[in-house]
Amino acid sequence: MLLEDAKIVAHEIMGDPESGMRRLVLRSEIAAEALPGQFVQLKVSTGLDPLLRRPISIAGVDQDKKEITLLYRLKGKGTKMLAQAKIGNVLNLLGPLGHGFTVPQNGTLYLVAGGIGAFPLLPLAQEAVKKGLEVCLCWGGENQGFFESAGLHLWQALGIDIQVSTMDGSMGIRGNVLDILNNYEFAKTAQVAVCGPMVMMAAVNEFFVKTDFVVEASLEERMGCGVGACLGCVCTLQDEQGKLRRGKVCKDGPVFKAKEVVWNAAL
Ligand SMILES: Cc1cc2nc3c(=O)[nH]c(=O)nc-3n(C[C@H](O)[C@H](O)[C@H](O)COP(=O)(O)OP(=O)(O)OC[C@H]3O[C@@H](n4cnc5c(N)ncnc54)[C@H](O)[C@@H]3O)c2cc1C
Ligand code: FES
Repeated sequence: MLLEDAKIVAHEIMGDPESGMRRLVLRSEIAAEALPGQFVQLKVSTGLDPLLRRPISIAGVDQDKKEITLLYRLKGKGTKMLAQAKIGNVLNLLGPLGHGFTVPQNGTLYLVAGGIGAFPLLPLAQEAVKKGLEVCLCWGGENQGFFESAGLHLWQALGIDIQVSTMDGSMGIRGNVLDILNNYEFAKTAQVAVCGPMVMMAAVNEFFVKTDFVVEASLEERMGCGVGACLGCVCTLQDEQGKLRRGKVCKDGPVFKAKEVVWNAAL
């Protein structure tokens, strides 16, 4: 884990400015260590306000150029301040943090994303494609405009199977990501990685219970320290005997085996 000042080499609006999506590329030594599903804690201002860093997933790594890419959506004060940062400015980063996804050795990899939950899945897809695995993305979003702003072209460049759903039917299947899964024919041996709203991930876990697939879910929790010290991100987990324990999303996760998560405690 590194604490460093990273120079901004690109910072741009993605797609429709109204969507609030940004692509941020930083020159960072973290590129040498980052694994799919890990995140950084970003200091968004040089002053004390806001005090807490903001967690953002690592959505791309270029080891040769020593660059990491972060994709983010404007949400509140912190991300709005971050959006003001200019190329050439320096941002203080802590990372790479947490446990990421398991990159499968063989078989098919199904990625299931809700909204901006696709961002941490992108480096996993890139690794799996490099290994020559079959990869399929099932991605639910609000409307066509959402996908155009949330980096659909980055996924299309991978040449993988992409299935999308929109609530208004403007692209792909009308409905949510479960409607894609319900109509999909799955391979016999596969691994699943899911990221999105908790309710959606709980439903996806439920959907795959009847299969032998290993399902990994990336949880999102409000974070303080990001390194396991403040207990700000605790979740409830269970072992195979149903014995409950507490886990820290920042340190033990954010990626967990979906069957370990006590989903109704998280909703
Ligand atoms: C492991 C992890 C990875 C993430 N990756 C991404 C990403 O790649 N792209 C992206 O756009 N967003 C991502 N998020 C969500 C992002 O951290 C929040 O949107 C951001 O912190 C909001 O900060 P804000 O000051 O703009 O909003 P505010 O609402 O003002 O934030 C106030 C406080 O709540 C926390 N907070 C608010 N919403 C969330 C949330 N949904 N999850 C966790 N903490 C929250 C903030 O960190 C801050 O401490 C991730 C969150 C986690 C936990
Ligand atoms: S954010 Fe502090 S323990 Fe996880």
